[in-house]
Amino acid sequence: MTMETNKIFAAVLVAGIIAMLGGFMADLVMPPRSLDEPAYHIDVPDDGTGPAVAAADTGPEPIEHLMAEADIDRGRRVSRSCLACHSFDQSREIRPQGPPLWGVVGKPLASIDGFTYSSALQEEGGTWTVEKLNEYLWNPRRAIPGNRMNYRGIRSPEDRAALIAYMKTMQ
Ligand code: HEC
Repeated sequence: MTMETNKIFAAVLVAGIIAMLGGFMADLVMPPRSLDEPAYHIDVPDDGTGPAVAAADTGPEPIEHLMAEADIDRGRRVSRSCLACHSFDQSREIRPQGPPLWGVVGKPLASIDGFTYSSALQEEGGTWTVEKLNEYLWNPRRAIPGNRMNYRGIRSPEDRAALIAYMKTMQ
């Protein structure tokens, strides 16, 4: 090694030692400390009341308390989305796409003679109560898996109450 390389080597060494000492001194003056809590906080709803969670896990909101105030005209408007498949009038016309709905509230499920129901709907049993209709119209596929009503459901509890109140007038 020449004197020159020795000097350079020493300089680099000294510089390294100074840098290390610097860091050491800095730690002495301001000791690093870890945070007790995360520096920021993300609010994640975990109480089961988020809309997605409610829709996925807890089923439709009950509507009994909405029935007394339900708006029949609003129900008639909502029923337009059913007319492609169902007749709503007293004629009880049986369409190939769906059974007639006149008088359906309070009737046994799948009870129209002359309409071919899915076995899922036939085997479900029971009566079309307000509660049962609330569940079915909220999400037909989830309420009665395997039934053939190809309808995505009505999200708004007020719309479901209005529609069922309207259907109740058809007796
Ligand atoms: C795309 C066609 C279609 C639409 C739209 C539709 N339905 Fe249906 N609906 C059906 C079919 C098909 C069945 C029979 C399902 C089965 O047998 O599984 C049915 C069954 C029903 C039943 C049971 C009837 C019974 O006799 O037991 C009710 C109640 C009903 N639908 C209400 C509605 C209402 C209210 C709407 C509008 C919000 C609606 N449906 C929209 C096709 C439809």
